[in-house]
Amino acid sequence: MVESVIKKYAVMGDPISHSLSPRIHKYFAAQTKKEILYEAINVKKNKLLDNAKSFFDNGGEGLNITTPLKMEAFQMSDALSDRAKNAQAVNTLHYIDGQVYGDNTDGIGLIKDISINHALDLDGKDILVLGAGGAVRGIIEPLLSSHPNSLIIANRTSEKAELLVKLFNNEPKIKSCAFDKLKGRHFDLIINGTAAGLSNELPMLDQNVLSAKTICYDLMYGHEDTKFVAWSKSCGVQTALDGLGMLVEQAAESFHIWNGIRPETHVVIDALRQDWQ
Ligand code: ATR
Repeated sequence: MVESVIKKYAVMGDPISHSLSPRIHKYFAAQTKKEILYEAINVKKNKLLDNAKSFFDNGGEGLNITTPLKMEAFQMSDALSDRAKNAQAVNTLHYIDGQVYGDNTDGIGLIKDISINHALDLDGKDILVLGAGGAVRGIIEPLLSSHPNSLIIANRTSEKAELLVKLFNNEPKIKSCAFDKLKGRHFDLIINGTAAGLSNELPMLDQNVLSAKTICYDLMYGHEDTKFVAWSKSCGVQTALDGLGMLVEQAAESFHIWNGIRPETHVVIDALRQDWQ
């Protein structure tokens, strides 16, 4: 039997028309026999507070927050989970008892996708993360908890990468590096966390940093190979993955926060990939 109370959720960000979150949450709702409304709402930078407030005032219970609003979501939260505090970025808001609770499920989403869906072990690996915005903030602590040998952050604006590294000042494994100083270095895993793909661009990474054995992972996803995945493959990389699995995994964690049930993710990832064929 389907529950009679219809709960209202949405994802806010810019751009948002490409978002798969409404479809993912509808799959989860059908699977768990919940009745929900889930929309995608375009919200420009610096406009989250007003839009989120109005959404909650009108009966909304939860929001997913995406580019470029994750730091605004952190700032507007009345209470925060430890992982959101560590990241200083929020991708999930839950409105309960008149309070806005902020959490960050990006990191656990990424780790589940890498370690369970793709069966990759990060222990002892050298990892390069490109970008230092809201998307990257949520994944640093969970990556560190996977015991890599090293974790380098490179960002177009290098000061932002340096600031992010300072948040982890007791952790010698994490360092920042300018894009143009990466040449000649080797990484087991390169994660593209920049928003470059949204404007059909690539981060300025020298292709000598890649080898056939490097695993490339784009936090972005798309109907076809993302720009970064396509570029990685054209450089001879054998394993280039997009962020669809992470998207579904982080959504499942958000769904759990809102509904107390963790939905099955594999079937949803398979269904989305099949829709694309
Ligand atoms: P998000 O939530 O996607 O992280 P954000 O907080 O606005 O959004 O951050 C965007 C990130 O993508 C930043 O690291 C940005 O680099 P800057 O700090 O130099 O702005 C990065 N980015 C965006 N467009 C890029 C491009 N064309 N090349 C490289 N990096 C880019």
